[in-house]
Amino acid sequence: MDLQLKGKSVIVTAASKGLGKAVAMAFAHEGAHVLIGSRNEATLQSAVTDIKQETGNEQVDYVVCDMKNPKDISGLVEKAVSWNGTVDVLINNAGGPPAGKFMDMGDDDWYHAFELNLLSFIRATRAVVPHMKKQQKGHIVNLASSSIKQTLNNLVLSNTMRPGIVGLAKSLSQELGGDNILINTVGPGTIETDRIAELNQVQAEQQGTTVEAIKWDAQQLVPMKRYGKPEEFAKAILFLASGANTYITGQSLIVDGGLVKSL
Ligand SMILES: NC(=O)c1ccc[n+]([C@@H]2O[C@H](COP(=O)([O-])OP(=O)(O)OC[C@H]3O[C@@H](n4cnc5c(N)ncnc54)[C@H](OP(=O)(O)O)[C@@H]3O)[C@@H](O)[C@H]2O)c1
Repeated sequence: MDLQLKGKSVIVTAASKGLGKAVAMAFAHEGAHVLIGSRNEATLQSAVTDIKQETGNEQVDYVVCDMKNPKDISGLVEKAVSWNGTVDVLINNAGGPPAGKFMDMGDDDWYHAFELNLLSFIRATRAVVPHMKKQQKGHIVNLASSSIKQTLNNLVLSNTMRPGIVGLAKSLSQELGGDNILINTVGPGTIETDRIAELNQVQAEQQGTTVEAIKWDAQQLVPMKRYGKPEEFAKAILFLASGANTYITGQSLIVDGGLVKSL
């Protein structure tokens, strides 16, 4: 299948490691011009080096971009436009919200999660849409969580903010379909990254057990009996954001090895 991504202007936010980096790697393999962002410049530089080395694609660059900072988000989009003339693909991603239950969270936690996990996607989308409208095409994919389909224990901030992404994407699919701008959401089940290692650590401390025990138990709950790999997750995003996807919009897809039981 020709994904028609060669030379396309692609932005992947929060992409210095983990899922974002795997997604950026997948686009680079397809010959896209890939601009990645995150907060830590040293990690970004090393991610760009890794992606160039693995893919042989030299058209990979970075901008320091904290997804909580609106100026950083505009700067990222401006850099992509000055580099490539437009933005063809935006992949919205951000760091995960802290774990915890409802009574653990004060107003500051709620504002933080709103700004990091929902408002950031709104801001980045608002910045790219005029460019996509001008060229009458574009793909936006939001990287969310399986909490868009089934709540996760001890993650009330995720369970509340992530479904907002789905509402946003569905609304935008209605508003922007006529401009040939397609927007979808992909949620990871459990894909092995530092984020999962951190959550497992929190759980192990709470339950007075080892990270290995938490990990083993979690994997038994997955019908495929294993965590996913970042590159497996990235393939779903790659397709939805590619020129091969011409008619899927406003949808949510979970990549989870069968973990989530909701229909
Ligand atoms: N892995 C999973 O199975 C899973 C499951 C459900 C949901 N998720 C969600 O998917 C997203 C990515 O997860 P991951 O597993 O790839 O996490 P990760 O391995 O911890 O990577 C997080 C990435 O986000 C960047 N980041 C964090 N805060 C940021 C901010 N304020 N602005 C810009 N970049 C920021 C980090 O770079 P810097 O530190 O340089 O900023 C890093 O590149 C998260 O929202 C996570 O909650 C993941």
